[in-house]
Amino acid sequence: MHIDSRRVSSNQLHTHTNLPSLLQRHLQHRHRKPVAEHSRTAFDVLREALESQPRPLVLDSFCGTGRSTALLAQRHPKHLVVGVDKSAHRLARHVETKDENYLLLQAECEDIWQLLLGAEIPLEYHYLLYPNPWPKSRHIQRRVHGNATFPWLLRLGGIIELRSNWRLYVEEFGLAMHLAGYCGNVFLLPEADPLTLFEEKYRASGHELWAYVGDTSKKLHRDATGVLG
Ligand SMILES: C[S@@+](CC[C@H](N)C(=O)[O-])C[C@H]1O[C@@H](n2cnc3c(N)ncnc32)[C@H](O)[C@@H]1O
Repeated sequence: MHIDSRRVSSNQLHTHTNLPSLLQRHLQHRHRKPVAEHSRTAFDVLREALESQPRPLVLDSFCGTGRSTALLAQRHPKHLVVGVDKSAHRLARHVETKDENYLLLQAECEDIWQLLLGAEIPLEYHYLLYPNPWPKSRHIQRRVHGNATFPWLLRLGGIIELRSNWRLYVEEFGLAMHLAGYCGNVFLLPEADPLTLFEEKYRASGHELWAYVGDTSKKLHRDATGVLG
């Protein structure tokens, strides 16, 4: 039996009008935030795994039960794939696979981003699959691209892939990336085996799924009139 997932409903119909000014403010100020002790402990596990076997890093932020982390480990066999979620309850539902190139951390994603930047460990791929949408217009700053930590995500680098069943969220994310000077694409995700539990639920409920993919190594240039291209 499957229970229909509700579509995202929001009082916001278009990309948020405050997004450009918010982003500008966040890009201009160097944000810092105290790191939770449990995130620091989790980060030590990541660092030890990299020290014992140096490999390029793939991050699966907001990984939930870590199904995507295990599947991504198969897609990136030469990388260390790290799933991060704050919910011990979700992580406890992980179904282990025999792949040894992944690990799951219970931590705040933003803490791990900050610690990775501090340790100068870059990312080759960064997956953000179905982050909480925060659909109310007044919650724009809780969305990844409206948050003061968004510049950390840009500095971590790599190829970024974000997915959501809320088209507007993905469009806004793409707009924020563009305004920050990076090119990428927003597209309707083709039918394929689901990468995550939420993706499976949304597909089964007939939702359209949207994705953004962009490469942070490809910076746009601003011409003399300030236009990005
Ligand atoms: C909608 S679920 C998606 C989970 C998974 N990616 C999937 O598609 O099945 C969002 C997840 O983000 C996690 N989360 C929300 N804010 C977080 C944060 N700041 N740091 C770490 N995890 C967070 C929640 O615990 C939840 O598991």
